[in-house]
Amino acid sequence: MTQKVSVLFVCLGNICRSPTAHGVFRQLVQDAGLADKIRIDSAGTAAWHSGKPADTRSIQTARNRGIDMLDLRARQVNLGDMIEFDYVLAMDDANYADLIDLSLPEYNSKIQLFLDYATGFSETEVPDPYYGGAEGFNHVFDLVTSASEGLLADIQKKHL
Ligand code: 4NP
Repeated sequence: MTQKVSVLFVCLGNICRSPTAHGVFRQLVQDAGLADKIRIDSAGTAAWHSGKPADTRSIQTARNRGIDMLDLRARQVNLGDMIEFDYVLAMDDANYADLIDLSLPEYNSKIQLFLDYATGFSETEVPDPYYGGAEGFNHVFDLVTSASEGLLADIQKKHL
């Protein structure tokens, strides 16, 4: 049996950006018939919202675009995640720096900015939508969708 490729999406609270990435990428993987080959999870660098569902605004934005993320629950990222996961994808520079601080040097190459996989956007970070309006949540969804497509193509090329 081939080993699953594993992907962890990380933001600050694990209630807006990383669950959106989790839900969007999960749907893409399922649509490609690869659900049994790719393990997907998400986590936050902060523990503030541990055990809670995603932010209602993220759930609604995703639902409007055909993605269900009602089952997801927040958790805090830990060193074990750096060992276990093949791809640890940070939403912004602060998440990236926090993950490098948490990690050990031998795992650092797994940690990347998620938007490195996006095309058609000049941004390098997924902006935190928490304190803003609906437009921010829609923009997060668009960025995350592009990066998810690029990520799946990369995994298919390198691992499957
Ligand atoms: P996320 O957004 O990192 O995309 O989940 C945030 C969620 C909560 C908070 C900040 C950002 N907060 O300050 O509670």
